[in-house]
Amino acid sequence: MDHFHYRDNVYFAEDVSLEAIAEQVGTPCYVYSRATLERHWRAFDDAFDGYPHTICYAVKANANLAVLNLFARMGSGFDIVSGGELERVLRAGGDPARVVFSGVGKGRDEIERAIAVGIQCFNVESAAELERIESLAAAASRRVRIAVRINPDVDARTHPYISTGLKENKFGIPVDEAVDVYRRAAASAHLEVSGVACHIGSQLTGMAPFEDAFARVLAFVDRLAGAGIELDHLDLGGGLGVRYRDESPPLPRDYTRALVACLERHGCSLPVTIEPGRVICANAGVFLTRVEYLKAGAARRFAVVDGAMNDLLRPALYQAWQEIVPVTIDETLPAYDYDVVGPVCESADFLGKERHLAIAPSALLAVRSAGAYGHVMSSNYNARPRCAEVMVDGDAFHVVRERETFEQLVAGERLLPA
Ligand code: LLP
Repeated sequence: MDHFHYRDNVYFAEDVSLEAIAEQVGTPCYVYSRATLERHWRAFDDAFDGYPHTICYAVKANANLAVLNLFARMGSGFDIVSGGELERVLRAGGDPARVVFSGVGKGRDEIERAIAVGIQCFNVESAAELERIESLAAAASRRVRIAVRINPDVDARTHPYISTGLKENKFGIPVDEAVDVYRRAAASAHLEVSGVACHIGSQLTGMAPFEDAFARVLAFVDRLAGAGIELDHLDLGGGLGVRYRDESPPLPRDYTRALVACLERHGCSLPVTIEPGRVICANAGVFLTRVEYLKAGAARRFAVVDGAMNDLLRPALYQAWQEIVPVTIDETLPAYDYDVVGPVCESADFLGKERHLAIAPSALLAVRSAGAYGHVMSSNYNARPRCAEVMVDGDAFHVVRERETFEQLVAGERLLPA
């Protein structure tokens, strides 16, 4: 459930009309609902019903400082994949001792910084990375906790770009090689074996691939125990999908029940870490954009809007479908099928195709389910400044990121000497 709804034919976020936000902040912009973000985080937390767990929110889904700060205030942990995300978590008041660091390409400086601030755990993705972490821990005279991310070779049945658990994917270490990596870690004075990690993909809409992966992780934990290696947690990644159109993904409670049942069947009572991103943020945000022109082509009608693929990349990159609704419903207008397209000079620049809309020129549109993997994936392509982000809180709203100016856009650039 989210807190976006119509009131007298005008679309609202909580108690604020999106017309008012567009008026004061301009378009395009992202609008988040605080109540929805908090509700979704809590729904996941409550769904564990007392089973020992840590929620490490996947920062990549939405890394705005205000968003991270809300979760930090709720006691969340964080899953990061870069030094930049670590700095964001720290800046937002997150506790480094509740940070797990995932990702296949951790740089030296990123590892050094994570060691210095004392993160909870490195999720290691290769033997070479383990060596690098060990040598940097030794140089800092520290002992750091590690989990090995295994690649369970499970088909997540999602878009190929966001599948991560197949053996042809770059992520994780094959199960058969992972035991050796643990042996090396266990023998090091600077590494402490802490857990095992696994993440098979994103936007999963059924439980079966998760259950398959959990079973493989548990079988692997037994193998480790056989080799005398004990763990203190299981990190089962993120990936739970949301409804964009007509998907019916498991609810957080279905997910956690199946997870806990799997652990119980296996006689495992280890604490669990999960790294949800999309399921918390996607339906807590919309992308607000205004029609610039209505244009009839030879074969299609176009609603040319001021938001584009540089602002919201998912439709162009994954052919993702996100619902587009008019901010103001006017039943006197004729409805047509429109391709909703941006000003960027690419035919991939669309937010939605063949959308049945009754809109006037200059209408405001809201692209729903845009709170995850929206602003974080934006760019400056076509010299378009990055758009603003707004957080609604009850009947108030706050600009949590200013619209970028042209000066900021070129701030780091230099001409060659004359
Ligand atoms: N943990 C790890 C190690 C991950 O790689 C990811 C996502 C997550 C957690 C969070 O997954 P979630 O709960 O959000 O599904 N840009 C794509 C999604 C990329 C996901 C990458 N990894 C999209 O817009 O669909």
